[in-house]
Amino acid sequence: MLDDRLLLENGVEIPVIGLGTWQIPNDITARVVKDALEVGYRHIDTAALYRNEEGVGEGILESGISRRDIFVTSKIHSSCKSYEGAVEAIEESLRKLNTDYIDLMLIHAPRPFNEMGEPSEKNYNKENIEVWRAMSEAYRDGKLRAIGVSNFSSEDMDNIIQNSDIKPMVNQILVNITRYPKKLIEACNERGILVESYSPNATGKLKGEEIKEMADKYGYTIPQLGNRFDYQLGTVVLPKTTHKEYMIENLNIDIEISKEDMEVLKAMGEYEGWKGSNSD
Ligand SMILES: NC(=O)c1ccc[n+]([C@@H]2O[C@H](COP(=O)([O-])OP(=O)(O)OC[C@H]3O[C@@H](n4cnc5c(N)ncnc54)[C@H](OP(=O)(O)O)[C@@H]3O)[C@@H](O)[C@H]2O)c1
Repeated sequence: MLDDRLLLENGVEIPVIGLGTWQIPNDITARVVKDALEVGYRHIDTAALYRNEEGVGEGILESGISRRDIFVTSKIHSSCKSYEGAVEAIEESLRKLNTDYIDLMLIHAPRPFNEMGEPSEKNYNKENIEVWRAMSEAYRDGKLRAIGVSNFSSEDMDNIIQNSDIKPMVNQILVNITRYPKKLIEACNERGILVESYSPNATGKLKGEEIKEMADKYGYTIPQLGNRFDYQLGTVVLPKTTHKEYMIENLNIDIEISKEDMEVLKAMGEYEGWKGSNSD
């Protein structure tokens, strides 16, 4: 699992398991990142919104592991919807992470998070193209090795694809046993956009008798079953934890879930109408 990589359309390799860092306070992030790197993680997922990019940068530096051996993702804040704002946001993430380049930069959401849950007349199609233009320039300048989106619907992805030279390489979306967006995953696959699954453990809320029974059948804990489910969908998996023992447990997911049981698990959370997420 540790050496497992997926390939982005531009040929960049991405480690299939990455440590999530949402809700990790900046002052403990360096320690958490160092622990993760020590047990073998080589992929860290952060965001401007998480306010812990500095801790991520420190942890990487203190680990003594070469920067080029670590894959770092960050995200432009969902409320940043202009070209100038995005140029600044990229520079700020580079500075906070204390790095010359970021491996993957994402637009955190197609609309500001406070508007994601609401039915809204307003779309941000033009604004997202402007943000994408800033990201494309930084990509061409070598400041970003890959660029992508998060929480985008197929319409949101097509807006970028139809109006820019560079296609998103990734869509990071909510995927777990209780939230399986079949059609959106298919839409990403059809467009050659790699899916990254966030909240594989439903932000700590993955539970229920059926899920427990399935986990027991494979000798997995529930979080391990959740990680393995997302892995078998062919997606990047981003489990978050601050505990070293959980970091190790979350990597230890070599036992295959049978085809039949994957179908049972998929049916538990299939969600047809998925348009985006109101989470962050
Ligand atoms: N793009 C987006 O909009 C978006 C949205 C949400 C998340 N994300 C990304 O995806 C990452 C993961 O999602 P998430 O933060 O929602 O949470 P998650 O990974 O689904 O679940 C995290 C919770 O599960 C617990 N946990 C993890 N492994 C465990 C284990 N082996 N045994 C017992 N408990 C375990 C953690 O505990 P402890 O922390 O106490 O150890 C924490 O409470 C985020 O951190 C972020 O990087 C992105």
